[in-house]
Amino acid sequence: MRIRELKLMNFRSYESLVLEPDEGLCVLSGDNAEGKTNILESIFLCALGRSHRTSRDAELIRYGKEEGGVRLVLDTRGGTRTIGCRLFARDRKKLSIDGAPLSRSGELLGCLNVVMFAPEDLTLVKGGPGERRRFMDMEISQLKPSYYYTLQRYNTALKQRNALLKDPDHFDAAQASIWDEQIAMLGSEIILDRDEFVEELSGIAADMHMALSDNKEILLVSYEPDVPADDPDRLTETILEKLRANQEKDLARGYTSVGPHRDDIMLELDGTDVRVYGSQGQQRTTVLSLKLSELEIMRGMRDESPVLLLDDVFSELDRKRQELLLKAISDCQTFITCTHLEELVSAGVDRMQVYSVRNGTVNEM
Ligand SMILES: Nc1ncnc2c1ncn2[C@@H]1O[C@H](COP(=O)(O)OP(=O)(O)OP(=O)(O)O)[C@@H](O)[C@H]1O
Ligand SMILES: [Mg+2]
Repeated sequence: MRIRELKLMNFRSYESLVLEPDEGLCVLSGDNAEGKTNILESIFLCALGRSHRTSRDAELIRYGKEEGGVRLVLDTRGGTRTIGCRLFARDRKKLSIDGAPLSRSGELLGCLNVVMFAPEDLTLVKGGPGERRRFMDMEISQLKPSYYYTLQRYNTALKQRNALLKDPDHFDAAQASIWDEQIAMLGSEIILDRDEFVEELSGIAADMHMALSDNKEILLVSYEPDVPADDPDRLTETILEKLRANQEKDLARGYTSVGPHRDDIMLELDGTDVRVYGSQGQQRTTVLSLKLSELEIMRGMRDESPVLLLDDVFSELDRKRQELLLKAISDCQTFITCTHLEELVSAGVDRMQVYSVRNGTVNEM
């Protein structure tokens, strides 16, 4: 897929901006704080219905304005689509596809597929389990929008159960049992989807990592569900039994201790935990392997390449990793930000469209 036009209105540092990017590499070059990431953020917003940096939509509106928005025209195998996102300081955002308003953010998923790779992604390895769950959730939601709805319903049920647990003196056992059933049913769906996703990811990531490490390291990615899916047909009951068995404990603690909200992904290099023992370089390479695998999975599933958003990552990679990254993205429309253009040129990037980004204005060079 390919973005044909991107239009920003009172979005972050941009009063108004229209970009008509080429098919291949689109480089956004400029000093710090000039507005490069803001552009990637606006594209990410059109793919997932939220920013990658904040959950508060109002922050995306240009300071002092009541309203802002993004409009993106996209060519896909299925035809041309126009995605609209209008942001309001005092109201919920309004999303649309081809002018038709969407009642839920989830309806946007799958229209524009993106893979984003930024320095902060190192938290995927170094951060807590929540970061890795967020990664799974974001990817699976893009591949399978129904997952997103299941997850939302799961979170609602979990919140309700936790609210009951926080008030043990007025604990309503009948109500709790209704939430238990919901959590078990939705939780088992989530676990099975994550299991399938990580299984696929694991095979591809191992090959990627092998190539990136000169055949030296074996990366093993494995799903660590809180409730294992050994017997998928009985998973709902298994979760339900555990919820019931832990009810006393949960009441004492005031939160739910069983379920996929406690899942993690294990990342091992030659048998040792990268999360704990990996060197900086190994951790970075692991993240790159995961991101490139994500790209592969999306490409396979949709039968077309997603759009790639690379925020300031090129300079952090050594020559070999740069080359592999370039090879993997050769058929994707890619937006790259950088502060020094020479870095890209010396890495062998050619045929690129370069924009200079300065203080909320963008000019093609
Ligand atoms: N809501 C907003 N309204 C106006 N300006 C904003 C808003 N949010 C952020 N900015 C401005 O946008 C700029 C940051 O933009 P951005 O994060 O895109 O920078 P960048 O070019 O990616 O910089 P770096 O190279 O440091 O990553 C800052 O100057 C900030 O003040
Ligand atoms: Mg930036």
